[in-house]
Amino acid sequence: MKIVVIYDSFFGNTKQIAQTIGNALNENNEVEVLDVSMVLHNQISDIDILIVGSPTRGFRPSENSINFLKSIAKTGLKGVKVAAFDTRLSLPKIKSKSIRFIVKTGGYAAKHIAKALQKKGGISVLLPEGFLVAGEEGPLVEGELERASNWAKSMIEKSL
Ligand SMILES: Cc1cc2nc3c(=O)[nH]c(=O)nc-3n(C[C@H](O)[C@H](O)[C@H](O)COP(=O)(O)O)c2cc1C
Repeated sequence: MKIVVIYDSFFGNTKQIAQTIGNALNENNEVEVLDVSMVLHNQISDIDILIVGSPTRGFRPSENSINFLKSIAKTGLKGVKVAAFDTRLSLPKIKSKSIRFIVKTGGYAAKHIAKALQKKGGISVLLPEGFLVAGEEGPLVEGELERASNWAKSMIEKSL
């Protein structure tokens, strides 16, 4: 299968997750992992699977990620299997109770990405997933790379 993983990343955490997902899918598939600001539209045509990930910024995907999603043609993902992920703050690491509440109730980027991908014709095969960072700049919480790898592999199982 032809698979493209697209990510945005300010501090490198979402990039690490995207690369881990790419590595997990490499066997028997043709995989490209691309920075969202470098994506050319011909790179997402004729693909079987598209995975898009963004850091959560103000409860939403990053601006670059939103612009990329908007730029996909109306039915540009027709028949393509899609999945979305984000990185987000680990709630137990947030000391202030009120900020914890705001972050939790505000929601996260992955849900918005999944919705946008489906709107462009993508077939959602996995629930949107979030991977945890310990602070704004990271690092990723222990075990998250392994969880990302397993999440990606389960997508392949569901796409066969
Ligand atoms: C301006 C800004 C807004 C953020 N907003 C949220 C948020 O709403 N919810 C959340 O869980 N994390 C939030 N974070 C933490 C980011 O999710 C975290 O920086 C990101 O996962 C790191 O990924 P990256 O290294 O790929 O940029 C925010 C961080 C910044 C700098």
